[in-house]
Amino acid sequence: MKIISVSDKNEMSKKAAQIILELIKEKPNAVLGLATGGTPEGTYKELVADHQKNETSYCQIHTVNLDEYVGINPEDPNSYHSYMESHFFKYIDLPKDQRFLPDGKNTSVEACVHYDNLIESLGGVDLQLLGIGRNGHIGFNEPGTPLTMGTHVVQLTESTRKANARFFGSLSEVPEQAITMGIGTILKSKKIVLIASGEEKAEAMNRMLHFSVPDDCFPASALVQHPDVTVIADEAALSLIK
Ligand code: F6R
Repeated sequence: MKIISVSDKNEMSKKAAQIILELIKEKPNAVLGLATGGTPEGTYKELVADHQKNETSYCQIHTVNLDEYVGINPEDPNSYHSYMESHFFKYIDLPKDQRFLPDGKNTSVEACVHYDNLIESLGGVDLQLLGIGRNGHIGFNEPGTPLTMGTHVVQLTESTRKANARFFGSLSEVPEQAITMGIGTILKSKKIVLIASGEEKAEAMNRMLHFSVPDDCFPASALVQHPDVTVIADEAALSLIK
């Protein structure tokens, strides 16, 4: 695991965008695994600014997102479909039929298997961008999720729902379930870039960086088994590391 320590969220966003852009330059038809939430917003801003300035093209890129809330329409402003549209997709030249997110309205076992098969049919994820939850979740794989699972439906923990209530009107509006790539799916990515910013992630980062063997009580610990993980974290997120 390579750790890049940066001063703040802005630097974290710039560094993550730079790594993504290097990949696109090297492989213009790369498959990007994307994340949502507060942490990657700046990275998408950087990529959009680069697209506008340098005309980096996404016309051959495919994207697959980590997760979506269950029961939410893609058009709902709180859906991750809407998040991706408003933070990234609407600004770039990525064709609509080359962007994929799990379907929060179809969470059958077949739909989950289909999502994993789709990723495989694209040749697998070249670079997966990840955030981390305060309880160590990656994607929406909450503590206790077997580390080998493919895409599946999860029950969100109270702490995750509370952390995400800031994007909704109230806690009661936050869906109770999500459909997420499993850790097994995530680990198949060729390269993983995990970004973290802020004191509220310090404990999770401290725990993650101390695991030498995976432990399904702390999902992010699964990353120790992957050969190509880059962690980009700011000083606040690394503040508990001894
Ligand atoms: C989002 C995702 C989650 C978030 C995590 C951190 O697609 O899969 O694992 O990365 O909940 O969220 P933020 O960045 O809002 O702190």
